[in-house]
Amino acid sequence: MKIKIAILASGNGSNFEALAKSVKKFRGKVKLEMLITDKKNAYVRKRATRLGIPDFFLDPKKFKTPLALDKEIFKLLKKKNINYVLLAGYMRFLSPFLIKKFENRILNIHPSLLPAFKGGCAIKDAYRHGVKITGVTIHFADEHIDNGPIILQKPVRVKEGWSPEELEKAIHRLEHRLYPQALKIVVEKRFRVRGRRVDVFPAI
Ligand code: GRF
Repeated sequence: MKIKIAILASGNGSNFEALAKSVKKFRGKVKLEMLITDKKNAYVRKRATRLGIPDFFLDPKKFKTPLALDKEIFKLLKKKNINYVLLAGYMRFLSPFLIKKFENRILNIHPSLLPAFKGGCAIKDAYRHGVKITGVTIHFADEHIDNGPIILQKPVRVKEGWSPEELEKAIHRLEHRLYPQALKIVVEKRFRVRGRRVDVFPAI
């Protein structure tokens, strides 16, 4: 049976593109069905068009509450029988409604070693803090921000003299490798969630 995925993104979309390209390696077993975005002019939409992936723009202003928006997202996901949702720079909280409907089937990427530096400025925050090691985390989404069970985590060493931009580049490079790797683990069902712990096998 084909595994269907959807990506939610709000911005540049470099992770979206890395994931879209990695999906091709599954030779038809996995399909990236759609991009859903909340930003009309997001660059990720251009990437979707170029890669031939249908994109759906849902204007948050047209919904009375965040829950109403999430119910519309759910409808879209149901209509296409989506198995997994990947958040790739989607700049909104997901409601407990959507989280529950897709329990342990929504993945998120975060540009730090969680639980350090949660929130929208993780790379800059880590840089300003002067950390020597930061990194990237892929986790299942739960009701709290940047909090759910961790699937994969890898470090980036902050080299002497690096500018914030250099750190950002290194983080993004790692993200583009790690998110496809996590997707592979998930679609091949090589994991088990036990509370906060995600066992991945064979162990990494
Ligand atoms: C990434 O750094 C990701 O970790 C964070 O948002 C950023 C999205 O970048 N959640 P892009 O839009 O995929 O280029």
